[in-house]
Amino acid sequence: MGIYKIAVLPGDGIGPEITEQALKALKAVAVKYQHEFKFTEGLIGGAGYDGAGHPLPQETLDLCHNSDAVLLGAVGGPKWDDLPVHLRPEAGALLPLRKALGLYANLRPTKVFPALVNASTLKPEVVSGLDVLVVRELTGGLYFGQKKREDIPGGGIRVIDTLEYTTPEIERIARLAFQMAQKRSGRLVSVDKANVLESSRLWREIVTEIGKEYPDVELDHMYVDNCAMQLVKNPRQFDVIVTENMFGDILSDQASMLSGSLGMLPSASIGGKIGLYEPSHGSAPKYAGLKRANPIATILSGSMLLKFSLGLDKESDAIEQAVTKVLDMGYRTADLMEEGMKLVNTDEMGDLIAENI
Ligand SMILES: NC(=O)c1ccc[n+]([C@@H]2O[C@H](COP(=O)([O-])OP(=O)(O)OC[C@H]3O[C@@H](n4cnc5c(N)ncnc54)[C@H](O)[C@@H]3O)[C@@H](O)[C@H]2O)c1
Repeated sequence: MGIYKIAVLPGDGIGPEITEQALKALKAVAVKYQHEFKFTEGLIGGAGYDGAGHPLPQETLDLCHNSDAVLLGAVGGPKWDDLPVHLRPEAGALLPLRKALGLYANLRPTKVFPALVNASTLKPEVVSGLDVLVVRELTGGLYFGQKKREDIPGGGIRVIDTLEYTTPEIERIARLAFQMAQKRSGRLVSVDKANVLESSRLWREIVTEIGKEYPDVELDHMYVDNCAMQLVKNPRQFDVIVTENMFGDILSDQASMLSGSLGMLPSASIGGKIGLYEPSHGSAPKYAGLKRANPIATILSGSMLLKFSLGLDKESDAIEQAVTKVLDMGYRTADLMEEGMKLVNTDEMGDLIAENI
């Protein structure tokens, strides 16, 4: 039975109240499976700026480096939107934290729970049984490329964002995606824009080359615009999707809506020694402190933390099974509410899930 150090960064908006529910589930796992989880909280985002003068205080970064895994709530809010970019919660905390921990891969699973098949905006027969994993490259590409603004002689401004990738960056995310597909149903779709972008042509060459090391995985390539269409037309054709940073940001948000609510979607950022686990949604400022937010995305992020950082697979499955059970019993937070279901608040949903582990 293990002793594990987990850094907990609640952040802003609904961050503290949803993180609390994930801790309830992890504590229930610790009791049931006799593990010891040492939780240590750190400031981040607007809370970091208010409390320590920076969205990513050195103390928080040190805490993350000295932990076995990091659980994050969400950052951001109108209060901090006018700060200089490097002091804003997202740009000043999330991007530097991902880079500092070497987290080059973002895993965004979208699973439609049987009890929620009607919550999706797509027809039940299109999404029932859906279980797709988007593997998004997280530390390269346009978001981290050079940014430039220059005056044009004769008036006006030219702006430039550079999309850059290197062989090693593509090789490592491709290998990780093939390994994920091996653990699932062995199908991988690599998404690019090789008919236009040089970076996508290299991406496709390297993914094809790496694919030779994984003969048990069926590899297909798809242009990003077609993938956006296919995700709505027939999302169940996909098992694992791998793609570059910006394409992944957009496609994983699109895929997430197949499940019906942003409040259902966990994510994991891995690749370095320490993984970072957070819901795919933001801080939902208008719900802050109202106990209306759906905590399931954060609770399932806790389940991914157990699986990907601590190697505790059965404990991770126990959390997922508890979520399924509580939804099957008809409990719903406001974002999932349907006629005839039992409305519960953030705390109550957290208690129900912990009780069913
Ligand atoms: N990783 C992060 O911390 C992260 C990610 C995205 C956005 N943000 C930040 O969050 C703030 C709000 O951004 P936004 O409104 O674009 O995105 P958001 O994800 O916070 O909210 C989008 C919509 O989804 C709803 N929603 C989100 N999470 C929910 C939950 N758990 N339960 C029920 N409903 C939920 C919100 O009410 C809102 O209507 C901004 O400051 C943004 O920069 C942070």
